[in-house]
Amino acid sequence: MLILAPMQGLTEVLFRKVYTQCFPGAMDYAISPFLSLTHGNLSDAWKKIGDVLPENNIGSMPVVPQILGKEPEEFVELANRLAEVIDPSSIPSSVDGKLEVNWNIGCPMRRVAAKHRGSGMLPYPDEIKSVLDQVVPKLKGASLSVKMRLGYFKDTEIFDIIPILNDYPLHSVTIHPRIGKQQYSGTPDKERFAEAAAMLKHKVIYNGDICRLEDYQYLTKRFPQIQDFMIGRGILYDPALPIKIKGGSCTEQEVRHFVTELFEAINRRPIPDESRMRKTKEYWCLMWKSIGITETQSKQVLHAPTYAETRQRIADFVK
Ligand SMILES: Cc1cc2nc3c(=O)[nH]c(=O)nc-3n(C[C@H](O)[C@H](O)[C@H](O)COP(=O)(O)O)c2cc1C
Repeated sequence: MLILAPMQGLTEVLFRKVYTQCFPGAMDYAISPFLSLTHGNLSDAWKKIGDVLPENNIGSMPVVPQILGKEPEEFVELANRLAEVIDPSSIPSSVDGKLEVNWNIGCPMRRVAAKHRGSGMLPYPDEIKSVLDQVVPKLKGASLSVKMRLGYFKDTEIFDIIPILNDYPLHSVTIHPRIGKQQYSGTPDKERFAEAAAMLKHKVIYNGDICRLEDYQYLTKRFPQIQDFMIGRGILYDPALPIKIKGGSCTEQEVRHFVTELFEAINRRPIPDESRMRKTKEYWCLMWKSIGITETQSKQVLHAPTYAETRQRIADFVK
């Protein structure tokens, strides 16, 4: 299966809906950007829960909710609540009628990691075990999956974590084979991924730098046992990538139509122009290549002084 990676600020329901409307079935499902238990309570998570509620996801791709945090009680409360409101039969990853709920132990942001959250938890296997001990037995109607990196400081931290993960009935483990300290620099370490995947008794999903059809073809050849691949930035660099992976084709005109629809959807959001401009440029930074223009041309949009001018310059390129 092809899974859309969670990307805070990018792969929220607005994007998922427009993408699905333009390219139905290209992605099998998505993992949502994280719902955070950051302040040790559920208030942050409730504020963003709308992103995964079924009523807001009509016409969008199926979405598995992701939680970032290490507070077992709040985790269980949120996961069980999500399992009550999201019908597992609407999500292709559901197993035995249980909703997959994903735990983020891969986020590399320093302010997150410094508090032993996200990838900041990876050097502390006992803390991971303690959360799993207190969460997994209490989940009702939900099955926990994990999204992780190889480690935070070292790419060998994962090897102390795998025996712990193997002790629990997890849904799956997604590995982005970088370490937290790297953020997004360097290349994913395929050798370490292979070692880790061989040790895990759970279903393993590969994630990291699938940006071209050749990247996917290389990975499927290199890891014939892996059936599921998660794509993040690659879908922004080339929205047609999942279609090509599935053996289909897509014209440049269709990609331009998608880009236009995405920016139109942002334009319809009831937010100030300043915020619309920021959001538009955030996507543009990653997406300009998909419409075949040069970097110099793309900068004309990034340097546009007003939202109206930003839209005009994009319209000139995309038409
Ligand atoms: C802007 C941005 C936001 C992200 N937000 C999340 C997130 O909310 N949860 C998560 O697990 N990973 C998050 N990630 C990591 C991606 O899911 C993915 O693991 C990473 O981008 C590598 O995959 P890719 O090379 O296919 O993009 C984020 C990445 C980016 C670039």
